[in-house]
Amino acid sequence: MIVLVGANKGGCGKSTTVINLAVAFAKDGKDVLIIDADRQSTASHWSSDREENKIHPFIQVLQKYDNLQPTLKELKNKYKVILVDVAGRNSREMLSTMLVADLMICPLQCSQPDLDTLNELKEQVTRAGDFNPDLKVYIYQTMASTNTKVKDNERQEFLNYVNQFAEFKACQSTNYFRKVYKDTISEGKAVLESNNNDANTEINALYLEVKSVVGEN
Ligand SMILES: Nc1ncnc2c1ncn2[C@@H]1O[C@H](COP(=O)(O)OP(=O)(O)OP(=O)(O)O)[C@@H](O)[C@H]1O
Ligand SMILES: [Mg+2]
Repeated sequence: MIVLVGANKGGCGKSTTVINLAVAFAKDGKDVLIIDADRQSTASHWSSDREENKIHPFIQVLQKYDNLQPTLKELKNKYKVILVDVAGRNSREMLSTMLVADLMICPLQCSQPDLDTLNELKEQVTRAGDFNPDLKVYIYQTMASTNTKVKDNERQEFLNYVNQFAEFKACQSTNYFRKVYKDTISEGKAVLESNNNDANTEINALYLEVKSVVGEN
């Protein structure tokens, strides 16, 4: 299966989502490939750090740019899952992947500048849908506040916004702002390789949700 993690917004948690999902799949024994289609190379740098620090399982990362369709079609049956990390804007890499992906996860914070980008995404999804009507698009709330006084309201605001669009669904799992996400990435790790139970629970929930959305066991 092909899972695109993309957004028309920078810094919303795309690479963090890709890296953490990749380790979740790999730890579950699934053959996983990351396609790093962002010239900033976050996922590739992470994988080099992982190799240097001799962290297992090893995660394969391939750098590819421009039209990703031929590569994705060629590799689709060679891996159980291909996760595609793209730049935070309307890019050729993102659009070409939308034409062949099974699932697109769009991570966004509950903030006006992030949520405003959903109008652009709606148009892209409509156009991609002419070629790939089976593409499922899920909006994943990232870096949510852990403050108990604002948490529930913020979640509700996010859901109200996303639910206005028939083209998307909101992920049930939510990602909270936790330092462990930054700390693990800089060591070539994922949060499942840390002892932070809250972050572990979040990523396991996202992993199970992704598998259930695409009908994988
Ligand atoms: N849940 C989280 N809690 C705390 N920090 C986070 C979380 N998720 C991501 N970050 C941090 O936020 C920053 C942006 O995250 P990330 O690089 O994953 O975003 P991105 O969407 O891939 O950005 P870009 O558009 O530049 O590719 C990074 O410093 C990352 O460590
Ligand atoms: Mg990134």
